[in-house]
Amino acid sequence: MGSLVTAFRHETDRLILRDWRGTDWEPFWHATNTPAVMEWLGGVCDDAKRNAAQQRLLSYQTDHGHTFWAVERKEVGAILGFCGLKRCNQAGGPQGEMEVGWRLCEDVWGQGYAKEAAAAALDLAFTRFGAEQVIALTVEPNAPSWGLMKRLGMERREDLDFPNSDFGADRIIVYSIARTDWKGLDG
Ligand SMILES: CC(C)(COP(=O)(O)OP(=O)(O)OC[C@H]1O[C@@H](n2cnc3c(N)ncnc32)[C@H](O)[C@@H]1OP(=O)(O)O)[C@@H](O)C(=O)NCCC(=O)NCCS
Repeated sequence: MGSLVTAFRHETDRLILRDWRGTDWEPFWHATNTPAVMEWLGGVCDDAKRNAAQQRLLSYQTDHGHTFWAVERKEVGAILGFCGLKRCNQAGGPQGEMEVGWRLCEDVWGQGYAKEAAAAALDLAFTRFGAEQVIALTVEPNAPSWGLMKRLGMERREDLDFPNSDFGADRIIVYSIARTDWKGLDG
């Protein structure tokens, strides 16, 4: 099968979602590998976990043409974290489903950046990447994350929940939105 590697760059009002560059990793981990950001993601990563995560993010782009992209703040050119689309590969989860995800440094929480990036990613899922449905995964205690899912118009899918302790709770909970329910960026 041919490679799906193409340059990706997408602008929103305040952000750029784009391919990872080698120089992004140091500032990305510096900003996001903190106890607060990683609280419901299995905790702060050691070198081995960081390297494995980087390889996964790069391989999603190669294999599927999308990944959890680097999120850059236009105004200052800083990496805030990541947001984007992967195919669900969480053990026990709905394998291969289009999945939206996000992780931003705590300095910028509460300013709508995550919603801005996530809405762009959802729109791309439906308009560019052919998704019929997009899911999102989190754990019950991660209210900021499932709160964002609700603000995006996603609905709780208890039927898709599954046992998995990767995120620090014993169950991963699922939200989803269908193409027919996506109201677009102005919705
Ligand atoms: C989950 C996460 C991305 C949510 O970030 P966030 O900044 O709370 O989410 P949003 O971008 O939607 O911002 C919402 C807040 O910004 C406020 N806001 C300010 N300006 C805004 C604007 N222009 N547009 C929208 N909201 C705005 C909203 O009122 C809301 O405030 P509230 O939380 O006090 O009600 C963030 O908590 C995070 O990175 N967590 C750690 C990583 C993680 O757990 N990832 C998910 C794993 S499943």
